[in-house]
Amino acid sequence: MTPVVATDLPLPRHRRGKVRDVYEVDADQLLLVATDRVSAFDVVMREAIPYKGAVLTQLTAWWLRELDGQVEHHLVTADVDEIVAAVPSLEPHRQMLAGRSMLCRRTEVFPVECVVRGYLSGSAWKEYRERGTLAGTPLPAGLRESDRFDPPLFSPATKAESGHDENITVERMAAAVGPDVAATLERLARLVYGIGRDRAAERGIIVADTKFEFGRRDGRVLLVDEVLTPDSSRFWPADRYAPGRPQPSFDKQPLRDYLERERVGGRWNGDAPPPALPPAVVEATSARYLDAYRRLTGSQLNLSELS
Ligand SMILES: Nc1ncnc2c1ncn2[C@@H]1O[C@H](COP(=O)(O)OP(=O)(O)OP(=O)(O)O)[C@@H](O)[C@H]1O
Ligand SMILES: [Mg+2]
Repeated sequence: MTPVVATDLPLPRHRRGKVRDVYEVDADQLLLVATDRVSAFDVVMREAIPYKGAVLTQLTAWWLRELDGQVEHHLVTADVDEIVAAVPSLEPHRQMLAGRSMLCRRTEVFPVECVVRGYLSGSAWKEYRERGTLAGTPLPAGLRESDRFDPPLFSPATKAESGHDENITVERMAAAVGPDVAATLERLARLVYGIGRDRAAERGIIVADTKFEFGRRDGRVLLVDEVLTPDSSRFWPADRYAPGRPQPSFDKQPLRDYLERERVGGRWNGDAPPPALPPAVVEATSARYLDAYRRLTGSQLNLSELS
């Protein structure tokens, strides 16, 4: 399977995200192609991470099948044969698309990232440490890094067109999308997080936090985008959990560590263009993604079917 940094398919382009190239199939459907691009600190690297796109797509499809019947979602199929049968012009691109693409129901995405936090980490820990708040709202005093929230916190964020997403209050979210929609998105985000948390716990994995996106279609709210992947979530090994410090994680930590060293060493200013990644960092990151897939689903990503 050849790593892919960019795609050019014979379909109208809907948008190009940091990781996914999104195409319009028709008025009802989109094709989401997860490339092997990787971003860290909101900067997209030049190198591709082998199998990353396939891990993101197959893991999302695996979770969405788990959610079938419980939460309405956007997935039509992630099977390349079915995709090519539905869109014959993609036949010459079958090999590139295999594993990494999903045919989806097209929605109007709500402009808010629905984050659920089961543990205090990331941008929430940073704000709490500095000001004792999350999105300006006070949290209980005395919390430690990686402490568990019970119940989990619903912690929406803006979908920034450029730069970092900003944590916002539920009130500000309600002002943006309306109180009814806000309540629905919170309910669904908590529901999906709870299902994911319980399922992952069976495999010894903590879902520390995760981000969902939802869209509207024919007056209904659908779960869209990627779901419970290493790009949208923090996964921690449960057997090594100890609050009061950062946790080891099944995500792009080797990449972040490398970039952090480059930054501290004065070789990178934190903006694009990023430094070149050594092959060992690319390989370690690829291995992390494959490992996350294997641990969560209980089986190896079938690489031979993806060639
Ligand atoms: N069913 C859907 N209908 C419409 N848009 C969708 C659907 N599923 C996913 N998307 C959109 O496809 C894009 C996926 O691209 P990607 O995740 O790479 O973007 P990103 O870098 O996270 O940035 P952004 O989300 O701001 O585009 C997102 O914009 C997401 O909102
Ligand atoms: Mg995204």
